[in-house]
Amino acid sequence: MNGKENGMNTVTLRVNRFTPRPERGRERGGSPFARKSSPFGDSGASARRRPRGKQWVQEYTLSVRPEDTVLDCLLTIKRTIDPTLAFRYSCGHGICGSDAVAINGTPTLLCTAMVRDWAKPAGTQVDNEGFRHTGDDFQPVPAQDGDDLGVIELAALPGFPVRRDLVADIDQMLDQIKKLKPYLQANDDLATTEDGKIDAFEYLQNPQQLAKYELLSNCIACGTCEGSCPVYAGGEAFIGPAALIAASRFINDSRDMQTAARMDAIDSADGIAACQSVRACSRECPRGIDVGEEIWQLIAQIKER
Ligand code: SF4
Ligand code: FES
Repeated sequence: MNGKENGMNTVTLRVNRFTPRPERGRERGGSPFARKSSPFGDSGASARRRPRGKQWVQEYTLSVRPEDTVLDCLLTIKRTIDPTLAFRYSCGHGICGSDAVAINGTPTLLCTAMVRDWAKPAGTQVDNEGFRHTGDDFQPVPAQDGDDLGVIELAALPGFPVRRDLVADIDQMLDQIKKLKPYLQANDDLATTEDGKIDAFEYLQNPQQLAKYELLSNCIACGTCEGSCPVYAGGEAFIGPAALIAASRFINDSRDMQTAARMDAIDSADGIAACQSVRACSRECPRGIDVGEEIWQLIAQIKER
């Protein structure tokens, strides 16, 4: 049955693959998952070393609907073509942030990226005058059933060591966020209910106070902003936009009593001073946060204090 008959199209996924060389000294038969790789476990420098191994590019051509997501494609490949392909996902709905990769070189989430938006039709990006279009100005002709939609290039999230295929090691980012104590530190005053009983969990805010940080609290720590940032690149010299967003979320929360300490923590050479205001971090945030603008506001808040 061809594509015209079953209402399907075809697409080719061109995947940058990587298999790490087995670690020396690991006991024969030992689990490859034995290393502590939890975001809350040991993630020191040795654990973050860029692993060496075999790199290659592999193409998979499969039947799709234009509205399928790139994650749908990878799951089909994993189940029916190549079970060795490694990628990470959890919720499948843009909520958990675990599946950020580079699609056609742009950091984004696999589960929200539709094939019709990312497939690059082979050859058709050259217009009648011979100019090659690479940006958003190119308007492809809507696909007909059975059409080959073209190619989607996939690679692990830039700026982080690759663990395997499309799986990047984001422990560095999670450690940087964790160091900034991303939880509410309210004072010890106990709130009381109307009848005078203690209600320790009630900290009132008005809508204006909530509005100051509500959008920032939507951050899912996906790392897309870090992968877009030319300064971050591994996070050795810059704490990174995701950590700054986490700090800003609590700095702007009227209930939090550690504003000065939080500002001190990021007012450093590898903190806000390292941000070069490139604003690439703003482009693809899946939660709609204008990351560059928020960091700019944060810098102003710290300079003015
Ligand atoms: S700010 Fe946006 S892009 Fe950056 S980690 Fe949070 S959700 Fe992801
Ligand atoms: S799988 Fe959870 S955000 Fe994509």
